[in-house]
Amino acid sequence: MCKILAIESSCDETAAAVVIDGVIVKSNVIASQLEIHRRYGGVFPEVASRQHILAISTVIQDALIEARTGWNELDAIAVTYGPGLVGSLLVGVNAAKGIALALDIPLIGINHLEGHLYSNWLKTDKNDPPPVKFPVLTLIVSGGHTELVLVHQHGEYEILGRTIDDAAGEAFDKVARMLEIGFPGGPAVQEAAKTGNPQAYDFPRAWLGNSFDFSFSGLKTAVLRTVQKYTKSNILQHPSMMAMGHQPQAPAKPRLVIPVADIAASFQMAVVDVLVSKAKAAADKYNVSEILLAGGVSANALLRNKMMAACGRPVRAPSLILCTDNAAMIGAAAYWHYKAGHFASWDLDVVTNLELESK
Ligand code: KG4
Ligand code: ZN
Repeated sequence: MCKILAIESSCDETAAAVVIDGVIVKSNVIASQLEIHRRYGGVFPEVASRQHILAISTVIQDALIEARTGWNELDAIAVTYGPGLVGSLLVGVNAAKGIALALDIPLIGINHLEGHLYSNWLKTDKNDPPPVKFPVLTLIVSGGHTELVLVHQHGEYEILGRTIDDAAGEAFDKVARMLEIGFPGGPAVQEAAKTGNPQAYDFPRAWLGNSFDFSFSGLKTAVLRTVQKYTKSNILQHPSMMAMGHQPQAPAKPRLVIPVADIAASFQMAVVDVLVSKAKAAADKYNVSEILLAGGVSANALLRNKMMAACGRPVRAPSLILCTDNAAMIGAAAYWHYKAGHFASWDLDVVTNLELESK
């Protein structure tokens, strides 16, 4: 049996987990900074690293207590060393180094994207998923990444395509900001879209020929233009200008209500259409046994449902809590490195733009 303490602090979640044999989650503690960053409308890097410093010891201790695990029972310490925010990553990496050094056990550096991918290996309470059969296709969709990865074996990755501009999650976050419906944008757009008509606006889909690359910046601009059609006519009536004594110029245009639900639904449908079509085409081309979804955007219900309905082969997605950032997924990925003897040295450093590469 291999017990790994995993630490994740690449963005705005301070997380620690104890994972057995890469599949059993004994504990999965996540201290979210969401409420702090919400007031900035996005993650404020300097604030994030300071919050990690405040939270990390307690989060690690809680993970051990919840797992009823003593320090001396641990076989290795795993930690995310990239990609992510430099200050945030440093907190996790330094904590992991200190613990591994003190306990004299191996340190394993994990790529955050590989962690997302391996979230599909974790058992949840209710279901005990069948083993993953290689080769599998993984669609990693997070706040910073959109990648189609063909996984030939553990640690053997072939990147088929990735975004050439915005990541899918980033597009959700920016559209939510335009619609002023909150942060993080994904869940807010999904909620707003529930009462909207996904056919109301024919937003562009960037197919980029036969490539498996993605682009969401054109879609984002199209949404912005649509929102501006409603907001521009209101500028002269903005309450702050009225308070400063500015009178609206006559004739004042009537205040237009932004059709938030229809825009959210049409945008969400455009993103999902592209993600599903490209994943299906890649799955067919490489004749994979199944498709795995991973990353924050894989929590999206429309994406999960459409992918399952359209792809004609099994589709696996992590439980919702394991879609967004957590440390259990880092422990799952670390197990395969542990077995292969891929240990980090004490000079392990953070790599903010780390790419997913085969070992
Ligand atoms: O994987 P993640 O937690 O962090 C990164 O590694 O970036 O992903 C966060 C992203 C955010 O952009 C968030 O808006 C998006 O995942 N997200 C969603 C949903 N839940 C989170 N996007 C669409 N639908 C959701 N339900
Ligand atoms: Zn992530």
